[in-house]
Amino acid sequence: MKKMIDSRRIVQNALKIKTVVPGFNIPYLPMMEPVVRALADTGTCGLIMVARLEWTKFKSGSLEDICSEYRRLKDERYTRLHLDHVPVIDEDNLEVEYQEIISRAIDLGYDSVMVDASRLPLIENIRCTEKIKGLARKSGVAVEGELGAVMGHETGPLPPYEELFASGKGFTDVKEAETFVRETGVDWLSVAAGNIHGAITAAKRSQTKVEAKLDVERIGEISRVVKIPLVLHGGTGIKNEYIRESVRRGIAKINIATAIRQPYEKAVSVSVAHAQEEVYKTVLKIIRDELEIAGSAKLLGLS
Ligand code: 13P
Repeated sequence: MKKMIDSRRIVQNALKIKTVVPGFNIPYLPMMEPVVRALADTGTCGLIMVARLEWTKFKSGSLEDICSEYRRLKDERYTRLHLDHVPVIDEDNLEVEYQEIISRAIDLGYDSVMVDASRLPLIENIRCTEKIKGLARKSGVAVEGELGAVMGHETGPLPPYEELFASGKGFTDVKEAETFVRETGVDWLSVAAGNIHGAITAAKRSQTKVEAKLDVERIGEISRVVKIPLVLHGGTGIKNEYIRESVRRGIAKINIATAIRQPYEKAVSVSVAHAQEEVYKTVLKIIRDELEIAGSAKLLGLS
């Protein structure tokens, strides 16, 4: 039997051929079925993702619930399971048992994990990320780390977007990125270069996200020095031309949550089945028209 290609290799291949692997967040369990179906129907490779805040603030249940739903629905010709943001300090400034959560995910069989120590100073970010690399070593699970501030999940108000972009505040520093990757041995690096997360507080979560831009030159410079796949968080609402250029310059994974969550939340008052169809249609549109990656599974070595 042919050995299954792992997530590390898939994203590495994406970097090599300058395409991108989308990761879709699942804040409500019924959203998983239409995402898997849209990936399979278009022959596209994608990650099914859950972040800690999706079981604490939304309704994805738990690490275990997501994992068993994934086992029921997965299609390994196209999909892999990823644990998104497990913060060391969370969006409410609280400490998280991040090692315990990530160990559990590795034992459950998640294919890749993210540790997010980006709210800590560089040295501490390195220390926490290194610990997770140590935990993941035996299983061979790929580890994503984050450097720089991808804002938007926090409760407080954000500065006006244009001001934020112009100041470059919180953007990933090229030299620090080089040190971080060398010291931690992380497999994928999430960067901040104008991208922001969609809001998640109850008061703001249904608002339309601002249209973000990207400092693509910075992304290119980081990619040149770290030489590992870069990850673009806050994938909803970024102008297409910026996304395409960032993929040419080193982004190999893009995270998408708000773009599929909002249509689900809007339609679910009619019925879950209707909301699932809205998610399906949205994922098709993202794959075909926005990212233009339909059929990527073959190119990436999955099927
Ligand atoms: P968006 O909500 O902007 O799509 O961001 C998703 C994300 O980055 C999850 O990690």
